[in-house]
Amino acid sequence: MLDLFSEIEQPEREELKRLRKELEEANYKYYVLNMPTLSDREFDEKMHRLQDLEAMFPDLYDPKSPTQHVGSDLGKKGFEQVKHKYPMLSLANSYSREEIEDWVRKLPAGVEIVCELKYDGLSISLWYEHGRLTRALTRGDGQQGDDVLQNIKTIPSIPWQINRTDLPDFFELRGEVLLPWERFEALNREREEQEEPLFANPRNAASGTLKLQDPREVARRGLDAYLYYMLGENLPGTTHYERLTTAKAWGFHISDAIKVCHSVDEVMNYIAYWDTERKNLPVATDGIVLKVNDLAQQDELGFTAKTPRWAIAYKFPAEKQLTLLREITYQVGRTGVVTPVANLEPVQLSGTMVQRATLHNEDFIRSLDIRPGDRVWVEKGGEIIPKITGKENPNTPINPNTPITQIFPTVCPECGTELVRIPGEAAWRCPNETGCPPQIKGKIEHFVSRKAMNIDGLGEETIDLLYRQGLLHNIADIYDLKLADIASQERLGEKSAQNMLAGIEASKQVPWSRVLFALGIRMVGETTAKKIARRFPSIDSLQWATTEQLCAIEDVGPQIAENIVHYFEDMRNVEILNRLREAGVQLEANGEGLEANVSDKLAGQTIVISGTFSQHSRDEYKDLIEAHGGKNSGSISKKTSFVLAGENMGPEKRKKAEALGIPLITEDEFLERIEN
Ligand code: IVH
Repeated sequence: MLDLFSEIEQPEREELKRLRKELEEANYKYYVLNMPTLSDREFDEKMHRLQDLEAMFPDLYDPKSPTQHVGSDLGKKGFEQVKHKYPMLSLANSYSREEIEDWVRKLPAGVEIVCELKYDGLSISLWYEHGRLTRALTRGDGQQGDDVLQNIKTIPSIPWQINRTDLPDFFELRGEVLLPWERFEALNREREEQEEPLFANPRNAASGTLKLQDPREVARRGLDAYLYYMLGENLPGTTHYERLTTAKAWGFHISDAIKVCHSVDEVMNYIAYWDTERKNLPVATDGIVLKVNDLAQQDELGFTAKTPRWAIAYKFPAEKQLTLLREITYQVGRTGVVTPVANLEPVQLSGTMVQRATLHNEDFIRSLDIRPGDRVWVEKGGEIIPKITGKENPNTPINPNTPITQIFPTVCPECGTELVRIPGEAAWRCPNETGCPPQIKGKIEHFVSRKAMNIDGLGEETIDLLYRQGLLHNIADIYDLKLADIASQERLGEKSAQNMLAGIEASKQVPWSRVLFALGIRMVGETTAKKIARRFPSIDSLQWATTEQLCAIEDVGPQIAENIVHYFEDMRNVEILNRLREAGVQLEANGEGLEANVSDKLAGQTIVISGTFSQHSRDEYKDLIEAHGGKNSGSISKKTSFVLAGENMGPEKRKKAEALGIPLITEDEFLERIEN
């Protein structure tokens, strides 16, 4: 009997374990990597399910379960970790009037509720001792956080010193650090130009910014903060509202959108008002926070392991709109992947006009059964690119006379070549790598990009222009461009033509490993290219490499190996390589490049790089270590041979190195070591 029961229970016990893992991972991606993978709602639903399962199986209790602690953003480099005076907890979420009513029912009768905006940034705890700002801690794991004081001091609205005689000796103010929309958009524009990955939303941008090691850069980006919670002993006031009013009088940045409410109706009116009005705010908000006003009542209600009972968040639903799907078009990317795009009747969403949204791939279109002419839901969650989440009437029986779901094209919309679908992949791809316009232009764009040949003055528009003029068809054509050809183009004057030619000339010094990356062989990224270039120091040796030889290189699997072999089998590529060689492009390691295998001076040594440097970049030092036979490592352990320590080395790393007796070596000492 017993066995039978446990067999029935088994799937739920497995589900419990799976959910713990999934939520742990989601926390890590959200807090440490700044790459959220679940929406708040999905996260909460999974968390509730896990709580239910844990109640069903008390024998599986685990104090490390995500239900027992808040997510952690610890693990970032270089900041002092400090224990919070009061744990920094999270808030329970609610999504409907009913859920708010459930919460209110558990509160004392006649309770006053303070409504505030829920700012979508990251929480910070500011310590004021005798009026002076002494620490600024991130939430961390809720028990201890990183002290990011120097970065917080770049925020103009946060006072460093308050000169009043009526201040308590110590108090703490908690609030949210944010990157205003305007600054966020400017930062992303800049990153786009520099070809750096974009931040998905202001929260991620603020989080990345706060963890920078360079306060000047932090200051330049322009963070702001709103404060919403004062803690400490012997503080003035008996209500939360009074405390915030006091903090405001002391000069702190407290939102004006705070209201004391006496009924759920009043709360719902506040929510309805701000759900619309928040779109005009300079910063991102994702909900409302409701707090019991009376501090004595707050004390009585107390806390659960993770959240206060006296406060709850209400999350705004992700903004979505119904609109007409006019047409599905298909976009061909640099690697030939064909992406379906929804062309929509323009609709206003989260402050921007949306007319296009990705439909990902054929399977996605089929799963939602979306057809041109349907009214579809467009959503803009925390991400930049809007998405289609469904159609208006998903359950209406399909009229057999309407056309079936639009058939995915069988030929490339750009060049007419028959598309192929690689088994196991969702994408259709155009195989015409050297004849399909977006692939040709994309390859050239990749070749000239900063991390590849770094050719200034040859941007996307110019490539398009020169391609249409018949002057650029492949990467080798770049080296045949003549001043007269370029300068005679309408939008290109003599000066920019000269700059471009200088950039092209300079690219001939780019070392072999980067040239290999620039060729754009499928799946050969920057790091893989370096590893391949080290094993095959010239194009001639690489050209004859077998898949077995290639697979022996770290990080090179059969797929990459096959792509490389395939690349050299195509005579058009061989011809391009011959032309690049004639033009003087580095197709072999010349001994000067940092990537060449220069010596064995660091053989067998494991080295950790920490801090900032003046003579070479961190990446260059990494290359140098490898070029001299050493191994790079990200963290200090007993196995570390020495730490290459720059300016502002993180105190934690320093402590650890000292504790393990690992030598710290300066930049100069290191360079001397590898030179002599
Ligand atoms: S009060 C003990 N008030 O939301 C409760 N939090 O999801 C302390 N947040 O960790 C939090 N706006 O980072 C509070 N007006 C507000 C808030 C707010 C944003 C953040 C805060 C908190 C998170 C919980």
